[in-house]
Formats: sequence, structure tokens, C-alpha cells
Amino acid sequence: MLWYFTNMELKKFRYFNPVKIYFGDNIEKGIKEFIEIYGKNIIIVTGKKSQFENGNYQIISNILKRYNINYTLWNKISPNARYDEIDETISLKGNYNSIIALGGGSVIDSAKCIGAVIRNHKDIRSLLNNGNFNNLPILAIPTTAGTGSSVTQYSVLMDKKNNDKRGFAHKTFFPKTAIISPNFTMSMPAKLTANTGLDALTHLIESYLSTRANPISNLMALKGIKLIKENLLTAYRESENGDARTNMAMASLLGGLAISQTGTILLHALGYPLTVYYDIPHGLANAIMLMPFIEFMEEISVKRLHDILSILSLPELKDIFNTLNIKTSLKEYNIGEDIIDVFTNNVMDKKNLKYTPFEINEKIVTNLYRKNL
Ligand SMILES: [Fe+2]
Repeated sequence: MLWYFTNMELKKFRYFNPVKIYFGDNIEKGIKEFIEIYGKNIIIVTGKKSQFENGNYQIISNILKRYNINYTLWNKISPNARYDEIDETISLKGNYNSIIALGGGSVIDSAKCIGAVIRNHKDIRSLLNNGNFNNLPILAIPTTAGTGSSVTQYSVLMDKKNNDKRGFAHKTFFPKTAIISPNFTMSMPAKLTANTGLDALTHLIESYLSTRANPISNLMALKGIKLIKENLLTAYRESENGDARTNMAMASLLGGLAISQTGTILLHALGYPLTVYYDIPHGLANAIMLMPFIEFMEEISVKRLHDILSILSLPELKDIFNTLNIKTSLKEYNIGEDIIDVFTNNVMDKKNLKYTPFEINEKIVTNLYRKNL
């Protein structure tokens, strides 16, 4: 019923994604091939703690040692990739020729920018303003199942001082290689499993609704939504369930591949202010705004929404939220009426709006937040 395309869709589209993907348990093979091509003086970018505690870092460093690779560790990345943390790497003196990013979305997004900073000896803001820069080759190893950043050309950066969070696309932000091993996600705590899994779900939903969607991204989006419906709760309840972790890793990968074609749309832009002003984790922020977003599209009869709802109905989505203990009212996070205008202004200048399948104005955005108070 769902696997059809209109003639219009098949007439003209482009699909491009240059990332080599190793899925499953072939970590060593992927690393070996990457270093053979891209060099043997590596900087490993990761977060401050969890990858050392759960042993993921040791798995990577042991492989590098076995192949006599020089590597330097840069483990200073916080949740939400930040300009100041990226710019700290300007001072790094070392003739690095490639980067390994080991972590969740903020680590991979940061690593994409750190490669550019090290390669060009300039701060990330001026590089992004100019747009004309080179990068180090990146090997991305995600340790969550949500971001999709390991296969996209995007980096989403947060500027706490100016209360802004926005995504940047650059052709050098595509990693050369992504190693998607569900084993790296086994130690994720339940809450992180929920938040990152919901981030993947919103990537898939937004990609399918995007006016840039193409027949290939659509197939990936619908399959990914089904995988999340069938596996997120199991991965949440049973952290070491291999099948659930594998299927969630696959769903996250499909979400990344799908948004590499389409980008995200209004929903991600609605979530950004929740993270910037109230420190709400990215995936949760999107999930909080998902229900009013879908209900509004039902009201204005966005046709393509029905394909999504025929796989994951609203009652099923509500059940998932209940089981994951997701509170969707803004009041639960102490967000009141007084900040909604600020949020709305923040949303209106985001590029994500452009490919949303309906005309957006300030009133619509304000009402989406108000509905959720
Ligand atoms: Fe996201």
C-alpha cells in the first residue's frame, strides 16, 4: 500500500551520499581501511566521560595500537556542539591527517568542525561565514542511535551567549567512513536511549514530509519509522537486547541517510529554543513539539502525513511517549507563556522552515507552542 510513487516523484530527483558505511561487527576492518587511505596521525574526538567508562574508547584505542597508529585524544566535548569548545582546538600543534569521532551527535558534529579548524587554522565562525574551507577526513563511530550525523553533511552548533542553535551544511562535513556498530550503543542508559531514539524518529518523519523528499529517502523514512515503532521500547527496557539495538542503529542510520537528502523541517527548528533556553536534550525537545506539529498538519490536511500515521498512529505514538515517560507539556519544564514570543523569533530565521510542506508564519509557530502549554 505504501511502496508506490507518483509519476511526478519518479520524473526527476537526485540522490547523493558519499559516506562509506560499515554496519555491524566489523569495527576493525573499517578502521584499518580508513587509516590505510587517510593517514596515521589521528586525533580522536570524544566526550568527557562515558566512552571511557563503558569501554568503547578502549576498543578503538587498542585497535589503533595494534596497527601502530599515532593518536591524540581530545575528550572535551559537552552535550550540544559549541563554538568555544571547537575553537579551543586551534591551539593544537600536531600534523594530524585525520579524525575519529567517537560519541553521540554533539561529538560527531563537533569533530566535523574541529577537522576544519585544525586544517585551516581559523575559528569555526569565520570558516562557516566564508564557506570555502577544507577539512580533515573523518571516521564517525556513533555510540547512540539517533543523531544520523555519521552519514550527513550537517553540523548543528549551539551558541549559548547569543541564545542560538542552528545547523550548517558543508560538503566536507560528510564523514569518509561511518562504522555503525550496535555494540557501541549497548551501554546507553534508558533515558538516553529514549531521547536519541525519538530524535531518529523525528528525522524520519520530517524527511518524509519535506518538500525535498525523493523516492529513495521516502523508502528509508517509512522503513525507519516502522523499525522505531517495533524496537524503541524494547531497547529502552532491555539495554542489552541485541536485536532491538541493531534495529535502532539501523533506524538511526536510515534517518541520517534520509535527512542527508532532505534536511529537517519546522519541527527541529521548534525544538532548538527548548535546548538553548532550557537545556532540554535535543531529541526530547523535538519529541515535546511532535504532537502539536502532527495535530496541526492533520487540521490543515497535509496529505503525506497519512502515510506516516498508517505506520505509526497517534494512539501508538502516545503509548510510546507514556512508556518512555515523556512529558509533553511545556509547563512540566517551567516554560511559560512569557517566553513564547522569544521562541517564535528564534524559529523564524531558521533554514529548516524552507522545505516544510506548508506556509509558515509567526502566528502558526506561536500557536504550536501555546497549544503545548
Ligand atoms: Fe536531530
